[in-house]
Amino acid sequence: MSGKWNIPEVIVALDVEEGNEALKLVRELKGKVDYFKIGSRLFTAEGPALIEKINSLGCSVFLDLKFHDIPATVAGSVRAACSHGVRMMTLHTTGGVEMMKAAVREVEKKFDKFSAKRPLLVGVTVLTSISREDLEIISTAQDEISDIVLKLAAKAKEAGLDGIVSSALETERIRKEFGKDFVIVTPGIRPSGYSTDDQKRVATPKSAAKAGSNFLVIGRPVYRASSPALAVDGILRELKE
Ligand code: C5P
Repeated sequence: MSGKWNIPEVIVALDVEEGNEALKLVRELKGKVDYFKIGSRLFTAEGPALIEKINSLGCSVFLDLKFHDIPATVAGSVRAACSHGVRMMTLHTTGGVEMMKAAVREVEKKFDKFSAKRPLLVGVTVLTSISREDLEIISTAQDEISDIVLKLAAKAKEAGLDGIVSSALETERIRKEFGKDFVIVTPGIRPSGYSTDDQKRVATPKSAAKAGSNFLVIGRPVYRASSPALAVDGILRELKE
């Protein structure tokens, strides 16, 4: 605790080409960071064996495959992810309440509510790479992005998910609305001066922490740095200041 806000946990996104590159990063950063995120790029290349390798290094895996399908298919995917020992996984809240409930049931079948091994289920709301303009392609509704995120977060809560993924720009409203136990995972994190890349709704690590995020997902600012370890040190220092 800094006194004013909780220091969030940093998750490093392993959006690299292949397993050896990912494992090199994990070995370099373990001890500084506990959670590593495997997304569709690395999972498609390496499969579940990589999850087990990262687990065997004593680190936690966030499987970010953003499931979005009919309830029965998502239930099967969640069941498989649970058997690989992941600590957190994502599904799209736009898949609907029934789909999210089917995912929750799978986790509950396998893990006791208080089991330390129970993975967190978090729902993706509106991607941090999406702008208001992008949304107009799929919807003519005039809602602000933050209103849409709030509505989707309410659905996630209703379905029994542990929390959601959203940008730091919506975090404060979500925290106020859904309380301290609702998990907020925030990508689109950019240390000041760093390029936004393809992300649109970005924030610095410190402003996301102040807004109330529990987990910060950080990819390119770490794995593209000439020294990923120094990049992480800088982020952790900023969070503790
Ligand atoms: O490199 P960068 O820090 O932008 O990476 C952000 C990571 O977070 C990527 O792996 C991306 O897939 C993921 N993510 C996101 N926005 C979401 C959900 C996940 O950027 N809403």
